[in-house]
Amino acid sequence: MATSSYTQDLMNITTKVLYALKQKGEKIAMLTAYDYITAKFCDQAGIEVILVGDSLSNVIQGNETTLPVTLEEMIYHTKMVRRGVKKAMVVADMTFMSYQVGLNDAIMNCGRVMKETGCDAVKMEGGSYIAEIVSKLVEIGIPVMGHLGLTPQSINKFGSYKTRGIDHEEAEQIFSDAIVLEKAGCFSIVLEKIPAALGSKVSKALKIPTIGIGAGPECDGQVLVMHDMLGMIEEFKPRFVRRYMNLAQDMKDAFKRYIKDIKSGSFPSDSESY
Ligand code: KIV
Repeated sequence: MATSSYTQDLMNITTKVLYALKQKGEKIAMLTAYDYITAKFCDQAGIEVILVGDSLSNVIQGNETTLPVTLEEMIYHTKMVRRGVKKAMVVADMTFMSYQVGLNDAIMNCGRVMKETGCDAVKMEGGSYIAEIVSKLVEIGIPVMGHLGLTPQSINKFGSYKTRGIDHEEAEQIFSDAIVLEKAGCFSIVLEKIPAALGSKVSKALKIPTIGIGAGPECDGQVLVMHDMLGMIEEFKPRFVRRYMNLAQDMKDAFKRYIKDIKSGSFPSDSESY
């Protein structure tokens, strides 16, 4: 329960609220969701930002990378999430190749996502090369969350999901990209899998809030993929994931009990029958 939170009595979480949270020093809680019911639970629990991440490609669709998920599929899932959320900010991830081709395509696709899903903002990966797109989107009224560090859509360029920004040159690049994205108008930036010291340096240098995932405790907020924090992906346990449940095991146990009850004839009982 978000008991002593500044956001408890607010009607909606907006970009201004996130900015105020940073100024107050209150950490921002962000989590991914991909469907109506889990988004509703996140919202009711007090999660401030719900991200319909392109991680839906991995955890919902079972793909190896985030590259295959389409814009249509992102729109489909974001609509479900929107229907479950009253207060949290809903952010839709822009899928691979939906914003990289050119300014017009990016505007059309981001505009489509906003119009068709009713989300509050979009998120996109990349540094200074997306700055022009960000400024234009913000100018026309589309709030943009940036994403730096490990950017999973670039897996084929990186060749692995290892920590980014370890060497001085890459750390400097991430830092300067963050400054450029803030200037371009991003209202927040996700920092993924970078050293805690770099997460801290970027967070201190920016006025807008940073949201870390494997970027240390000094980011202004934290995000995790829901399936990871619920312990649904048994084979994936990087250091930055804290598991709050062991849902994979709990679900399998429930399914086994259900099978047993059917086989034994104990389900349905008289009180479960008409
Ligand atoms: O797609 C996603 O879930 C994300 C988070 C890991 C930040 O981008």
